[in-house]
Amino acid sequence: MKHFISIADHTTQELRHLLDIARRLKKQHKETGRNDPIFAGKTLAMIFEKPSLRTRVSFAVAMAHLGGEGLILRDEEVGLDVREPVQDVARVLSGMCDGIMARTFQHDKIERLAKYASVPVINGLTDHSHPCQAMADLMTIEEHFGDLKGRTLTFVGDANNVARSLAEGCGRFGMRFIMAAPAGYEFSSEDEDRIMTAVPELDFVVERNPEESVREADVVCTDTWVSMGQESQKQKRLSDFHGYIVDERLMSVAPKHAVVIHCLPAYRGYEISEAVLEGPQSLVYQEAENRLHFQKGLLAVLMGGL
Ligand code: CP
Ligand code: NVA
Repeated sequence: MKHFISIADHTTQELRHLLDIARRLKKQHKETGRNDPIFAGKTLAMIFEKPSLRTRVSFAVAMAHLGGEGLILRDEEVGLDVREPVQDVARVLSGMCDGIMARTFQHDKIERLAKYASVPVINGLTDHSHPCQAMADLMTIEEHFGDLKGRTLTFVGDANNVARSLAEGCGRFGMRFIMAAPAGYEFSSEDEDRIMTAVPELDFVVERNPEESVREADVVCTDTWVSMGQESQKQKRLSDFHGYIVDERLMSVAPKHAVVIHCLPAYRGYEISEAVLEGPQSLVYQEAENRLHFQKGLLAVLMGGL
């Protein structure tokens, strides 16, 4: 495994290894309060074209826990393809750092970073996908149920970056993925073709009706209706997604044992109700913490040879 750009780039065995290492490092840290400093003297460059709390802090803290350092670079300063071309940024950072994590608008920027870098490149979210989030989600689901295979995850909302990565991850781990989106916000046919070609084992179901979509769900997932970069469409989206809120009424249709996840930031009263977010079925804050533990596992594998 050289880079981590998309879940579909990796086999189930590779992804399984990432989850196992993440779980091991989490256990070690919880039990002893520390991890082995395998990254002493190593640096991860982190470029952000968009805001971030979890991704930024989890990578920085993961590097600190493993004895290294995360260097935060705002895109106002780096200017990917503006101040200098992506390939030069990739080469310069490869000469000085041991890894690159980037959060970009266009997905092809992360692909070009990976093409020209000689150190590992990690996708910290693009308009297209959010693989680190989806892996932390799978880690959380597995912690809760003790397994993944055969489980059903229903994504209620926008078929966005998080949904694409989760669909790929569900396929790799033998889970059914149900997408419940209003007309115009489901996966495009190109998206669907691409996912089914890359992850042909995926059990993928489209269900327009939110209530029908959660009837067999072990996991109900949602995300904002207005992703970063879509702010100008906010009013239209809020109106188009009417009826797709994950609230107590919707959860009353889901099996009693179903849990709720959300990558955060959450917009209470829009895609998720306060009561569900704060309620007993919510794994949302465990999920947020697992961003740190998954990041550690990922960095340990990509940069530490674990
Ligand atoms: N879930 C997530 O990626 O959060 P941030 O945008 O705060 O990094
Ligand atoms: N879909 C959201 C995820 C935020 C972590 C966005 O792209 O803004």
